[in-house]
Amino acid sequence: MTGTGTGEYRQSAVDPAAPLLLFDSGVGGLSVLRKVRQLLPDAPIIYVADNAGLPYGAKTEAQIAARVSGLLGRLTERLRPRLVCIACNTASTIALASVREVLEVPIVGTVPAIKPAAAATRTGVIGLLGTEATIRQAYVDRLEAEFASDKLLLRHGAPELVTAAEAKLRGETVDPAVYARAAEALRSQAGGDRIDTVVLACTHFPLVQDELQRAFGSGVSFVDGSDGIARRIAFLTDGQLWRRETPDLALFTRGGIEMDQLGSTLAVHGLDRVAVF
Ligand code: DGL
Repeated sequence: MTGTGTGEYRQSAVDPAAPLLLFDSGVGGLSVLRKVRQLLPDAPIIYVADNAGLPYGAKTEAQIAARVSGLLGRLTERLRPRLVCIACNTASTIALASVREVLEVPIVGTVPAIKPAAAATRTGVIGLLGTEATIRQAYVDRLEAEFASDKLLLRHGAPELVTAAEAKLRGETVDPAVYARAAEALRSQAGGDRIDTVVLACTHFPLVQDELQRAFGSGVSFVDGSDGIARRIAFLTDGQLWRRETPDLALFTRGGIEMDQLGSTLAVHGLDRVAVF
């Protein structure tokens, strides 16, 4: 069974307690989780952060593909989710197709929101912030060719913003210069002074959108894929029953002080149990 969301699959006996599994390298997927909660408040959720592998953005394609498919294979075998959401642009743009080939569960990926950005821009100049691995993907080239061929798309890989989002959610103070540098890196490219729309092509970045807004100024709007992902998950699970038998769970691939520091943030996102996978 692939992620086609056929009526046959939806109506067949899906265990009402079977969770949605959201997967990211760290806390980034929480930006997707909060949208999923709005649409599907009764859905039992397991959130997985592969923090032992963070950051994905600095890894090679082969490392990411092997890590993500291996981990998702073990996770789905053990946790039996009804659907997996790869809430990570880096993992999705590299490994979505291969993961879909091997897993017999519907998979929803996260695609840089170039299409809505192209529809929104008035100046015709779009910025794209992602990880270093995401911005070099052919997947992004294809989205650009399909949806933004008459626009100027300027890309910047911003690993510092991943670190900043992780730190913010642990309750740490982040130097605003981090956000200013990301804005400047896009603005200083040829045509960058006309950017009016920025694609947040990493799920960590909506978590620091207010800070980015201050750095870019009020003339710039941000788009990300989280609303579309939540709608897609709702569509694929339409008609299924939901029953939360245990409090929702956050799983980390490595325990330690950083995991403990995230406890209150996770609770705010309805993840009342935390464990190491
Ligand atoms: N949240 C991930 C994404 O959407 C990337 C973070 C990382 O570098 O691991 O791309």
